[in-house]
Amino acid sequence: MAGRVIAIDGPAASGKSSVARSVASTLGFLFVSSGHFYRALAWGTVIESIPDEALNDWLMSRHLGVEEKENSISLLLDGKDATSHLSDPEVAAKVSQIASFPCMRDFVNSRLHALAEERDLVMEGRDIGSVVFPDTPWKFYLDASPEERARRRAREGDVDPIAERDRLDSTRVTAPLVIPEGSDVIDTTRMTLEQVVDVVISRLGNLQPSNP
Ligand code: CDP
Ligand code: CDP
Repeated sequence: MAGRVIAIDGPAASGKSSVARSVASTLGFLFVSSGHFYRALAWGTVIESIPDEALNDWLMSRHLGVEEKENSISLLLDGKDATSHLSDPEVAAKVSQIASFPCMRDFVNSRLHALAEERDLVMEGRDIGSVVFPDTPWKFYLDASPEERARRRAREGDVDPIAERDRLDSTRVTAPLVIPEGSDVIDTTRMTLEQVVDVVISRLGNLQPSNP
């Protein structure tokens, strides 16, 4: 039987991954960042200098392995652990462009669907409630002002063009960032992480934790 999926979408640095990780840990669900899949592939195209016109063929011979570790996953691109490269500046600069290609989205979506066949998930991204799992009853859209989001990312010390990524993610033709129909919208600009987690958990009502 397919697992349950809690979908959390929103723009960069709105708090999706921190909130999703915490909610997953509370419920015993698996935490999945769909952005990590796009980042792992973007990393591959950077180190192999793959031009856009060769992306489709390149993807066909890629193996993206998923390894479960303590309620979360790591990604192995052709056997190489991508984890330490996901926030590389070159990856941050390229990922949104890569993610706009339909072949990339199909490749990632099939792997996200496969995960949900086996496990209860808290999955965060840009199109989880709108495209990947539109039928899930648990959908959240986190937002915060652009200034607050830029401050949050700067505090982490990462070089990350979030305004440009937001622009590309919201304007692309395939699966743009939108507020999914039926989602619960939370403006986190003046909220702490703990407050956002509490609101999400309270709105899940009587959703039962995963069996150990
Ligand atoms: O996954 P996403 O890019 O949406 O955001 P994140 O990586 O979870 O959060 C970005 C940073 O903002 C992290 O350092 C969080 O601790 C911080 N944050 C915050 O200060 N207040 C919030 N309400 C949510 C996140
Ligand atoms: O943590 P942050 O929100 O900054 O980024 P992320 O979730 O790691 O996603 C990196 C990029 O992957 C996004 O800017 C999008 O271009 C792309 N992405 C997407 O297109 N669809 C998703 N479901 C998740 C990420």
